[in-house]
Amino acid sequence: MNTAPPSTVSAAAAVTHIEIEPSILYFGTPVVLLSTENQDGSFNLAPISSAWALGQTVVIGLGREGQTAYNLGSRPELVISLPAPAQWPAVEKLAPLTGRNPVPSTKPRGCRFVPDKFAAAGLTGEPSHLVRPPRVARCPIQLEAHAERIRPDVSGGFVIVEAVVRKVHADSRIVVPGTDHIDPGTWSPLIYNFRHYFGLGAELGRSYRAQTPRRSGKRASEPALDGTVPS
Ligand SMILES: Cc1cc2nc3c(=O)[nH]c(=O)nc-3n(C[C@H](O)[C@H](O)[C@H](O)COP(=O)(O)O)c2cc1C
Repeated sequence: MNTAPPSTVSAAAAVTHIEIEPSILYFGTPVVLLSTENQDGSFNLAPISSAWALGQTVVIGLGREGQTAYNLGSRPELVISLPAPAQWPAVEKLAPLTGRNPVPSTKPRGCRFVPDKFAAAGLTGEPSHLVRPPRVARCPIQLEAHAERIRPDVSGGFVIVEAVVRKVHADSRIVVPGTDHIDPGTWSPLIYNFRHYFGLGAELGRSYRAQTPRRSGKRASEPALDGTVPS
């Protein structure tokens, strides 16, 4: 016997699912920029969307043959910089570039080697406090970290990196004054949603564990914080 309330039954009946075989499953995760150190002491920069936080650890999925995975295997320091939504054009400039020379055959067609990806994307590095790779200036959140564990994924094409965050830098405008809390009403990640870039929409609600006061602020995607429009 169906005991669900009538409204639930009618809502479920209205939805038709079809089976599909999408080539990618990028269902909308934040973009991060990873700074790592090359063998010659210069620095590489790569956009990555397979990243998520588990306590103070950020778990990252990387193509096995990319320069970033290669660097972290030998030099485990990194910076995880989080761009604001309006910085997506700089992120997209990095998309067809690799710091690996020669370019691995597994990279997509059109991918080319560029030794200075900061310059190629019009981004600037600023010194980190605890690690050698630089932070990406004007990214509202920057995490200095150390790759503690790197292991192959089940497909063999990727590696899974567990990076422990040692220091957090936040643009003062996205911090609730007098606290260590990021203001979720002001900060928005840049979301990679099935190969299209998005920011966050309006707040829908708050978790029972939320610790920040409700407020209406300007999100970090707006010109004063986005790093693309001179202030
Ligand atoms: C928005 C965006 C998200 C990406 N996410 C990932 C990712 O999660 N993992 C990955 O290995 N490559 C990802 N890529 C592709 C890498 O950035 C690309 O392979 C790049 O060449 C890596 O640079 P590297 O070889 O210098 O490390 C992404 C690219 C873009 C533009």
